[in-house]
Amino acid sequence: MSDLFDTIVSLCKQRGFIFQSSEIYGGQAATYDYGPLGVELKRNVKDLWWQEMVYGHGDVVGLDAAIMMHPKTWEASGHTEAFNDPLIDDKASNHRYRADELIEDHIRDLRQDGDMEQAEAVYERLVAALNSDDMAGNLYDIIQDEEIRAPRSGAFDWTPVRQFNLMFETHVGPVAETGDRIFLRPETAQGIFVNFQNVREPARQHVPFGIAQIGKAFRNEIVARQFVFRMREFEQMEMQYFVKPGEQLDFFAEWREKRMAWHKRLGVRPSKLRFHEHEQLSHYADAAEDIQYEYPIGWKEVEGIHSRTDYDLKRHQEYSGKNMTYYDPFEQEKYIPYVVETSVGLDRTVLMLLCDAYDEDEANGNERTVLRFHPEVAPIRAAIFPLSKKKGLPDIAHDIEADLRPHFNVMYDERGSMGKRYRRMDEAGTPFCITVDFDTLDDQQVTVRDRDSMEQDRVAIDQLTAYINDHSTG
Ligand code: GAP
Repeated sequence: MSDLFDTIVSLCKQRGFIFQSSEIYGGQAATYDYGPLGVELKRNVKDLWWQEMVYGHGDVVGLDAAIMMHPKTWEASGHTEAFNDPLIDDKASNHRYRADELIEDHIRDLRQDGDMEQAEAVYERLVAALNSDDMAGNLYDIIQDEEIRAPRSGAFDWTPVRQFNLMFETHVGPVAETGDRIFLRPETAQGIFVNFQNVREPARQHVPFGIAQIGKAFRNEIVARQFVFRMREFEQMEMQYFVKPGEQLDFFAEWREKRMAWHKRLGVRPSKLRFHEHEQLSHYADAAEDIQYEYPIGWKEVEGIHSRTDYDLKRHQEYSGKNMTYYDPFEQEKYIPYVVETSVGLDRTVLMLLCDAYDEDEANGNERTVLRFHPEVAPIRAAIFPLSKKKGLPDIAHDIEADLRPHFNVMYDERGSMGKRYRRMDEAGTPFCITVDFDTLDDQQVTVRDRDSMEQDRVAIDQLTAYINDHSTG
């Protein structure tokens, strides 16, 4: 992992953004807990997504479906049969790897060494292997032919590649042996498909329209690493947009643009975002692209946009025996709608925002760490400091805090030197620091310090809400 990535992971722990789950017991692998700052950051992202997708579109409505679904759901969706990762073990270290990722890393090394021709040839073989019927066998052949060594041990002593299903299994009912076997959902999308008719009619929606949902998903990731990038319990924000067959590629193009624009509106640097076409199209998809962000660990997927045809609704109709067709009263025709899906990982978005915001610079001759969050995603929007504990300055600061609380998440802090208080807020990514000083007693004004420029404005107390709002957009 890169040094920068390690630094961000340790800042997250120190400042209470994100830490290992069940840490006092040695930690539960690939699961993480969000502390006071992390939970605010995550809530802001959820709210901004919901505002954009649901409140921003009259034809998109919300849903909150259960995590535990009928086991037939996963037969219909294809997850029972085909939701697999190709894994390979290094016999020397007993360490397990994803075969396709080993090859991707090898291609990256070839490129870095300037061996572009070979990198291209291996890349083409990888794409062919991922699209072949014998994916495991073909991936194994590449690893053998390229003599790819195990990163941890350096050895070249591999087991064959095996497919491993990623769904978590549990039982309902009092006795495991007799209870029904169910799965924790590996994606939120299926809750939307099975509820297509339940939602459409009461919401009085006609095709085209969408259903949006935010919720937890679970995958038994075997190669779980890279902090919250790949977890076993994570959150997705998904939207399924139901369209008339034949119109899906136009809507795909539209949602692709809208979703990229949303990431940029969160304040992410455009140069760090790009589209990436899938090397392997699922057999039911007729278009698929990822939005990637350049994390310190490389370009990686943060969101997938998929044109899934009528595969899911058709399969649920087949497996449930329930009608999934839509009758178009305007054109007087019946069909099973096609679906364009936008699926973004909430935790990967939070990680992207942390990586993008992280910066180190100098403040008054001292080094500082600063998170340059867009004000609308920042966990704390403003901090209020009395310059001194004398002459009633804390009372005025508390009054300001009370005035601002209904509008923003704010924090009062009177401990330590002004410099230390600023440093704490810079590390939390707080965009505005408000100081009540002795002049405030005469002029009813306070100093507002901008986190990024460190410039200070004098602002009337009764104008603070408007000032923060004005300086939070854009
Ligand atoms: N319904 C489509 C679907 O689930 P996906 O590409 O498998 O598609 C969508 O997942 C998004 O969910 C990914 O782009 C990623 O942001 C997030 N995601 C997937 N697996 C994850 C994991 N193990 N940990 C964190 N986020 C994950």
